[in-house]
Amino acid sequence: MGLRWIPILIPIPMATRKHLLNIGLCLALIWGIYDAIMGPDLVSDLRDFTGRYGAYLLLISLLFTPLSQRWNWVKRNVSMRRNVGVWGFIYAAVHVLIWITLEFYYDWALMLDEIAGNLFILLGILAFILLTPLAVTSNYRALKRFGYRKWQMLHTFTYIAVPAVIAHHFMAQKSDTLEPLLMGFVLVLTLVWRYRHAR
Ligand code: HEM
Repeated sequence: MGLRWIPILIPIPMATRKHLLNIGLCLALIWGIYDAIMGPDLVSDLRDFTGRYGAYLLLISLLFTPLSQRWNWVKRNVSMRRNVGVWGFIYAAVHVLIWITLEFYYDWALMLDEIAGNLFILLGILAFILLTPLAVTSNYRALKRFGYRKWQMLHTFTYIAVPAVIAHHFMAQKSDTLEPLLMGFVLVLTLVWRYRHAR
């Protein structure tokens, strides 16, 4: 039985599906925090879990549009893209918060020292700065206020932020770079698709 039958067999209204997705991603974050607390290295486990899943969710949010052209069940769920993207941002925000609080104990001078000339950290900060206005304006009220064209232009920032995230992920690895490389490959395919379908 193909995947396209799944939404027919489970006729759940869209609003409920979105609630279930939000609850699932919130529980996954709580589980990740609990798991890190129980583990041997709270700070790096927590930082890596939130960074990694934040990056996955941000990349997945970019995949909705190209995949919706291929599969109808993705098309029917395309409005969930916003939830996935916002949760990607929430995970990334926790990741940054851990860096500020548990890794640097609010020592701003030391943080500035770490940031200066550190491309790896600068890419993370660039991504986070670009994603913040997107997360804040990811609602119908902001869309109405800005108008569709301006809002859509602002949201093209994701096409800079997600490559920055993947480069940051790549640079964070000491040896095993396969995962960020695969994510980079998927990202390139998405960007090529986007370029070819740009109106
Ligand atoms: C959109 C924002 C960001 C995302 C999605 C993100 C994602 C990631 C990912 C995927 C990793 C690798 C985790 C692993 O190895 O399992 C990582 C590591 C890390 N990130 Fe970020 N990051 C972001 C922003 C930042 C910012 C703004 C900072 C600091 C100011 C930061 C600091 C770090 C540090 C210190 C590491 C660990 C490096 C190591 O293992 O030595 N990240 N991040």
